[in-house]
Amino acid sequence: MTKQYKTLGEFIIENQDSFKYSSGELSRLLNGLRLAAKVVNHEVNKAGLVDILGEAGDQNIQGENQQKLDVLANEKFIQTLKKREIVCGIASEEEDDFISINSFDNQHQNKYVVLIDPLDGSSNIDVNVSVGTIFSIYRRVTPVGTPVTIEDFLQPGVNQIAAGYIIYGTSTMLVYTTGDGVNGFTLNPALGTFYLSHPNMSFPENGNIYSVNEGNYVHFPQGVKDYIKYCQKEEDDRPYTSRYIGSLVSDFHRNMIKGGIYMYPKSSVASEGKLRLLYECNPMAFIAEQANGLASDGKNRIMEVKPTELHQRVPFFCGSRNMVEKAEEFMKNANA
Ligand code: AHG
Ligand code: MN
Ligand code: MN
Repeated sequence: MTKQYKTLGEFIIENQDSFKYSSGELSRLLNGLRLAAKVVNHEVNKAGLVDILGEAGDQNIQGENQQKLDVLANEKFIQTLKKREIVCGIASEEEDDFISINSFDNQHQNKYVVLIDPLDGSSNIDVNVSVGTIFSIYRRVTPVGTPVTIEDFLQPGVNQIAAGYIIYGTSTMLVYTTGDGVNGFTLNPALGTFYLSHPNMSFPENGNIYSVNEGNYVHFPQGVKDYIKYCQKEEDDRPYTSRYIGSLVSDFHRNMIKGGIYMYPKSSVASEGKLRLLYECNPMAFIAEQANGLASDGKNRIMEVKPTELHQRVPFFCGSRNMVEKAEEFMKNANA
């Protein structure tokens, strides 16, 4: 990395004024997430060396609790946000309920809530394959000065103020949007600094990659089966390439750069699919739309789904505009 790249810190400050609710609070929050990302990155990088690959709940020889990486990532993000008192509430995929944050000095004065999937792609943790973190930020809907309630978290994705992900890959990147395009920052690990390496990220309108767990094919609705067969057919620019890492962040990131579609459909064994609306689908949908892509539950725009519970699941089709529209067409025609 050379000096010509802007740092994430500089970028956050420069863009603070263009943000319509600008008060500096969102900038502080993004800086908090940046710090937590670096801490978790450090833990992920040394995962093979230390006792954090075991099951959570185990004890090591010193009698200390061993921590599975997703529990550890959850703790690091929550601690960082709590200690800096920059949010009024947090909901995490790893917590049963939301957390209300308050301190003696700061009587529920913060305006933002954060929803987080601290470690996405858990099945890749133990095998040294890329994992990620996904975050989503909303303004609270209940009055400042009172404790947060479930209503602050059950907002449709269209209300998001910012969303992003960190990918702990061959290099570590933080990619985020505040509703004004998508920018990607690469960590220089020697300096501990994120640099703007991917300004204005955008999905190509067409792509040739489809990403789905095809092992579940027999359980998929007919429309999804038909679309997969379409992807595999030798015609025009097809067959497409199949790529599935099993970590949404990594699959999404690749598809955004190269052009592709990610699918986690409902099935005969999982009536709403697997992915969580609040921690995974909404933030990725916001990023996708800001990057000229689309995100759908098969019929409707993901960000317009009205959440009814924190850990709600939803079918997810996300990526290059023309590919998502084509998949929707197949589902509509098969009526499934
Ligand atoms: P998490 O690790 O946060 O539970 O999420 C895993 C998700 C997603 O990242 C990935 O694309 C998908 O689950 C993989 O599921 P399958 O193993 O069923 O394909
Ligand atoms: Mn996940
Ligand atoms: Mn997770």
